Amino acid sequence: MMLWRLLKEYLAPYRRWISFIVVLQLAGTIASLYLPSLNADIIDNGVVTGDTGYIVRIGGWMLAVSLIQIACTITAVYFGAQTAMAFGRDLRSQIFRQVGSFSSREVGRFGAPTLITRNTNDVQQIQMLAMMGFTMMIAAPIMLVGGVIMALREDVGLSWLVAVAIPILAGSVGLILTRMIPGFRLMQRRLDTVNQVLREQTTGIRVIRAFVREPYETERFGKANTDLTDVSITVGRWMSAIFPTVMLVLNVSSVAVLWFGGIRIDAGLMQIGALTAFLAYLIQILMAVMMSTIMLVMVPRAAVSADRIGEVLDTESSVVPPERGVTAVQRTGELEFRGVGFQYAGATHPVLRDIDFSATAGQTTAIVGSTGAGKTTLLNLIPRLFDATDGVVAVDGVDVRELDPEALWKRIGLVPQKAYLFSGTVASNLRLGKPDATDAEMWEALEIAQARDFVEDMPEGLESPVAQGGTNLSGGQRQRLAIARALIRRPEIYLFDDSFSALDVATDARLRMALAPVTAEATVLIVAQRVFTITDADQIVVLDDGHVVGLGTHDELLESCPTYTEIVESQMKAEAS
Ligand code: CTP
Ligand code: MG
Repeated sequence: MMLWRLLKEYLAPYRRWISFIVVLQLAGTIASLYLPSLNADIIDNGVVTGDTGYIVRIGGWMLAVSLIQIACTITAVYFGAQTAMAFGRDLRSQIFRQVGSFSSREVGRFGAPTLITRNTNDVQQIQMLAMMGFTMMIAAPIMLVGGVIMALREDVGLSWLVAVAIPILAGSVGLILTRMIPGFRLMQRRLDTVNQVLREQTTGIRVIRAFVREPYETERFGKANTDLTDVSITVGRWMSAIFPTVMLVLNVSSVAVLWFGGIRIDAGLMQIGALTAFLAYLIQILMAVMMSTIMLVMVPRAAVSADRIGEVLDTESSVVPPERGVTAVQRTGELEFRGVGFQYAGATHPVLRDIDFSATAGQTTAIVGSTGAGKTTLLNLIPRLFDATDGVVAVDGVDVRELDPEALWKRIGLVPQKAYLFSGTVASNLRLGKPDATDAEMWEALEIAQARDFVEDMPEGLESPVAQGGTNLSGGQRQRLAIARALIRRPEIYLFDDSFSALDVATDARLRMALAPVTAEATVLIVAQRVFTITDADQIVVLDDGHVVGLGTHDELLESCPTYTEIVESQMKAEAS
């Protein structure tokens, strides 16, 4: 079972602490089991006989035992909490590391909202089980067995009461708890939904406003929220029935003990002190039964969470870094696609098929094609955001799957189609490209990317704040910062995925002029929408529905490739009109 596997694996480093907790719990429980019998002694041998000295002596001893019990329990709970929290911390960081190793494919399969719930709430469920385990699970069985033995020592004649009360309590509490279990699984799933809706709405808030979708979205969130509330209330109702049930069983058994004990005392078979002690032990026993039942119920809940966490931990990234990556290669900057095919997980058709072409240093290769042709997918195969499902993508003649990932990424400057910036400052975003970049280097990169002007106009220059995703900047500003971020590391391979689409034609032209000398030595791949911007490329790859349907220069393609001619003509018409 996943739950035991997680507990065993992640509690292993704290074995010493746990044994310490067990010893303390043992001592504490034995002390609390000893108290009622001391009390019985005081009554029977002190109060009844009027021996004040005896009362004081045993009373003092009782006080000492109580202090030991308190000290042991407090320390045990303290270390129990520490261990449980440390366990949670370790598990969370392992999940985080695992998710970090995922390629876009695995993240897409789970979805971000559930990954977040799994790393927070689900871990918390198991952490809580561990915590309760340290405080109750260890004490309960000792208390149960010890209580029964001590009660029998006080009076065997009443022991049938214990035999009746335990199954009644365990049965009724257990019955209530089994009603709650199905609710737990549902609760985790609905929590996922609430997270998902909330996330979609906060990231898409502008779109929602623009399309006046607020009432609809409010309703959608309302429904997810109500669903979660409903199941929580159902579980809560059952939960609230537990305490009265326990009290009922406890009080009825106490009355029974007093009633039947009274008869036995009348008959001279039992002493008053023994009766009080017996009563105290019965209560301790029933408490232990209740605690174990509650623990037993937390197990299925934690098991649900453990399974969800296990799914994440057991998912292997489809992009696995090589054991011993090739780092030393002859740096030619040559990029090669050999019979490359790619199919998204769960898709019925491959997105790319039989892609064959190569690009060398100093060359600019343009990729054109209608939307959905697979251009972005093609570029993403180079830095291994995905791995090709067929064929080989090679850099410097080495399969990218065999290259050391760090070494590979260092050599690639990718400007993604959706320019994503991180929360921080302009400078902190640029330093993602090159951690030790100086101010001068940053300004230079900004200058080439045609971003100098607007960054200078920002109140704090390089230290101006950037919101998460770069939402406080315009689309074109974001694109230019993303270009500067790629430029600053001076890579050998530039990948521009439609990176000039948000720029006006004049800025676009200036940017290309400035780029030319910088990228002269490098291998450049440009995905472009506007064909007239890439007419002077060394070669143009025409993609259509995942196939290469044309490869050559602008003039060659005009002669030989109908798809290319079509694209060019459609854009010229659009220009003219
Ligand atoms: N696709 C997919 N799963 C993804 C991304 C894309 O199934 N995570 C599919 C899309 O439905 C599309 C095809 O892959 O049909 C190619 O997508 P993409 O490479 O992004 O196309 P582009 O040529 O880059 O399109 P655009 O010009 O619009 O950027
Ligand atoms: Mg694209």
